[in-house]
Amino acid sequence: MNRFEGKVALLTGAGGYIGGTSARRFAAEGAKVFVCDYTMEIAQRTVDAIRAAGGEAEAFAGDVRDSKFCDAAVAECVRRFGGIDIMVHVAGGSARGKMAKLIDQTDDVIENILGVNLLGAIWMSRAAAREMVKAGKGGRIICFSSVVARCGLKKCVDYAAAKGGVSSMICSLAKELGEDKITVNAVAPGIVVRPDDNSGENITHGTNFLHEKCLADDVANVVLFLSSEEGRFVTGQTYAIDGGRSLAMKGSD
Ligand SMILES: NC(=O)c1ccc[n+]([C@@H]2O[C@H](COP(=O)([O-])OP(=O)(O)OC[C@H]3O[C@@H](n4cnc5c(N)ncnc54)[C@H](O)[C@@H]3O)[C@@H](O)[C@H]2O)c1
Repeated sequence: MNRFEGKVALLTGAGGYIGGTSARRFAAEGAKVFVCDYTMEIAQRTVDAIRAAGGEAEAFAGDVRDSKFCDAAVAECVRRFGGIDIMVHVAGGSARGKMAKLIDQTDDVIENILGVNLLGAIWMSRAAAREMVKAGKGGRIICFSSVVARCGLKKCVDYAAAKGGVSSMICSLAKELGEDKITVNAVAPGIVVRPDDNSGENITHGTNFLHEKCLADDVANVVLFLSSEEGRFVTGQTYAIDGGRSLAMKGSD
């Protein structure tokens, strides 16, 4: 399929697992891909993989917590590729090694988690929307939420707040941008497993109702659908990609 022939897609966090997979999939379907990540080295890995497969991509590096970087990323994408049709804000994640109950959490960690996951989504969406409205050709904006936003998770108050903010933010922005034919949606993965993860049934039977691993390609499938012409009438929605994980009630299947 060449669903994205002639389209330009900018992805943040595109050197990471889900972002890298999505970036390669966009390129494989004909998009020119503007690969943004925190460092040039990380972004370049994805660019090299895309070019090795015959696709077109450019790397750009900086911190999505900084609105000036986000404006610059969109401006540079337009300068190098002539426009921006699709913006996917993938950069983010929980505090991982620094996760703690809110009563023990530090200002730095909380600000960082809100900065990357929520402010980054707002800065990137604003920068992309400004350019898309100006160009007058419509567009697609997709941000990353999480099932944690819907269900909650101990030691993740900051992350839940950020991802919940993303799912709320896209509703309002979808209303603002509808008349410009720009759709705004979010995806909310459950646990996305690296192919070499050997956690076995803890991950398959323990965290979803399909008893399988969710891989980055499962998330990319939905991101690409929402970015495509087939997704043109979907806006303001958060798609859970979690094998039913967020349906669970404590103590009962
Ligand atoms: N992996 C999962 O199980 C899972 C589940 C739910 C939601 N998500 C969400 O999916 C997205 C991608 O997750 P992943 O597993 O691919 O993570 P990952 O760590 O592999 O990729 C995240 C990328 O974001 C980049 N990044 C981090 N901070 C940044 C900053 N300040 N500026 C610019 N870039 C920055 C990192 O360098 C990295 O390449 C995240 O938003 C995450 O919250 C992941």
